[in-house]
Amino acid sequence: MQRIQSRASFEGEFELPGDKSITHRAIMLSSGADGETTITNALMGEDCVSTCRCMRSLGAEIDVDGTTLRVRGTPRFRRGRELNCGNSGTTIRLLTGYVAGKMIDAKLYGDESLSVRPMKRVAEPLALLGANVTTTDGHAPVFVSPTALHGADVELQISSAQVKSAVLLAGLSADGVTTVTEPVKSRDHTERMLQAMGANLTVDGTKVTIQRSELRAMDVCVPSDVSSAAYFMALGALKGKTLCKNVGINPTRTGILTAFDRLGVKYSLLNHRVSAGEETADILVERSDMRGLELTAKDVPSMIDELPLVALLCAFADGESRITGAKELRVKESDRIRTTAELINNIGGDCQETPDGFIIRGKKKLVGGNVDSYLDHRIAMTAAVGLIATENGGNIARPECCAISFPDFFEKLGMKLY
Ligand code: S3P
Repeated sequence: MQRIQSRASFEGEFELPGDKSITHRAIMLSSGADGETTITNALMGEDCVSTCRCMRSLGAEIDVDGTTLRVRGTPRFRRGRELNCGNSGTTIRLLTGYVAGKMIDAKLYGDESLSVRPMKRVAEPLALLGANVTTTDGHAPVFVSPTALHGADVELQISSAQVKSAVLLAGLSADGVTTVTEPVKSRDHTERMLQAMGANLTVDGTKVTIQRSELRAMDVCVPSDVSSAAYFMALGALKGKTLCKNVGINPTRTGILTAFDRLGVKYSLLNHRVSAGEETADILVERSDMRGLELTAKDVPSMIDELPLVALLCAFADGESRITGAKELRVKESDRIRTTAELINNIGGDCQETPDGFIIRGKKKLVGGNVDSYLDHRIAMTAAVGLIATENGGNIARPECCAISFPDFFEKLGMKLY
């Protein structure tokens, strides 16, 4: 149980951990490339540790020195491996596609939470390329058997970077041309990294085309994760002034800034840079009087992991907010529509669940209270931000799950995790 004191103000400069999505992809792709790669500012949260474990099992050599990784890749993966993906949806979904093209058999599995998350969404599009992927009643464990893949046109019904990436990683080994189209563009780190590593890949709006390619090793410097920075940016908006340094601002990830615009949050981007095909900036956020907002399906993919936090900000805003088109939240590490609404209501807010989102009546001042993380890292961190901004603070049960994406989150807040 973590006690969170309310604070009159919150100010500071923060260096946040490396981007989780980019770290996963850098480890996976360098593990399948011929040659040696150095990855700097890698996130060594539990999810990326799961990816390292799987890639080592497939034959890559990975040395870890703090946040620097040295990877010696192998284009030929070992057969017959049992790949433990832990809690990580990105690991199991991307790797299913990657392994499916490697003419090997493998079993991919994970923890209790991962075992109830939908896996047909990758098995079905991969089958269009001829892949032999079977699920366990639509879930993990997932079994891959060796088959030669052929190119196909895949039209996704949902916008999901994990599913899109699984198809692209399979398409790397398929004969002919593979295309993937999604309704709204999701994060495009896979596309950017594959292009930088020499893959034959083109992007036209929401359609990505890939052909069989070999990858060449390429060093990667990972920007800080905007999804982790978002908690500190929100604290700036609620309680003072924060500066988050060197944050990735890939436009497929910065929906939080769209939400800030609609809420009326004051922020600025400083020190624009580009590193390994990804833009970064320092983000300064100042205390702001917020108003209610409206978000719909087209807004969702670029802020999918920040939506619990955005809903929380709405609870502190003046007026009503409506978020729709976010049904995907129901199949994350927890059912984030239910867990976010419970969190907000338990700390004195007014959040109503809808089938695909929330209606939040802003109260400006919330009293505080006790909440559970539901073993979901993003709910734990959203709860900490919320409680700091309440009148009386409160307690978070099972907060240590923040280690999935942000191991020193509570230390960065100036707290010891008990
Ligand atoms: C991720 C994609 C998103 C996101 C997850 C990371 C990725 O999932 O929620 O935290 O790295 O590709 P979906 O693609 O299922 O929306």
